[in-house]
Amino acid sequence: MRKKIVAGNWKMNKTLQEGVQLASEVKESVAKAAVKDVTVIVCTPFIHLTEVKKTLGNGVALGAQNCAAEPKGAFTGEVSAEMVKSTGATYVIIGHSERRAYYGETDAILNKKVNLALEQGLTPIFCIGEVLQEREANIHFDVVKKQLSEGLFSLSAEQFSNVVIAYEPVWAIGTGKTATSEQAQEIHKYIRGVIAAKYGNAVADGITILYGGSCNAQNAKELFANPDVDGGLIGGASLKAADFTTIVTSF
Ligand code: 13P
Repeated sequence: MRKKIVAGNWKMNKTLQEGVQLASEVKESVAKAAVKDVTVIVCTPFIHLTEVKKTLGNGVALGAQNCAAEPKGAFTGEVSAEMVKSTGATYVIIGHSERRAYYGETDAILNKKVNLALEQGLTPIFCIGEVLQEREANIHFDVVKKQLSEGLFSLSAEQFSNVVIAYEPVWAIGTGKTATSEQAQEIHKYIRGVIAAKYGNAVADGITILYGGSCNAQNAKELFANPDVDGGLIGGASLKAADFTTIVTSF
């Protein structure tokens, strides 16, 4: 049975104090919901990691939103996978569309980041997804296939089994325009098929594939009901503990 996951991506929101407060509310409401068999993760800005780790304890896992493509050294302003690991974080988002679009992160760079994260024993949450133009041109399947193959398919099957995939159509991120349940299932199934062709059915069946893009307390249930949607990567709705917890309970 593959893992069900709900991960919050706080993006560039919350001061340290506000972040600790939110983490404490998330911890409490997730504990109260007492959901079994769902891994809950919050992915915070770098500066929050250490304090949020202390606040969360063990019930909710911690992740970063990025890591450097180099292991260490003279890279001013960067934070390495090893540093992320040293805070107690166990996950790291890699290849979010905002990193790809605004910071020029190519599949080749992302492949280096994934390798460094795996070397540290971090679980990469690797994001893929098409922009609106690509969806309208009906090339979204090719786009995600290329992102998978250039970003991840140099990994061994064993390494690949330690990666979580997040399908996030860029046109659905922060827009309030979510993919329909059918659109999500269709492409998640396709993604699993591409993985099966490369690594075999057993590996593909074990991989968690999250949906992200305007997933919220209202629509999570319908999205998560699909056989190939194993949870969500949540932006805006992860900034409110009650909404985030409702999503956690939506399986
Ligand atoms: P929203 O949930 O705000 O659309 O963001 C999704 C996302 O980008 C999560 O990584």
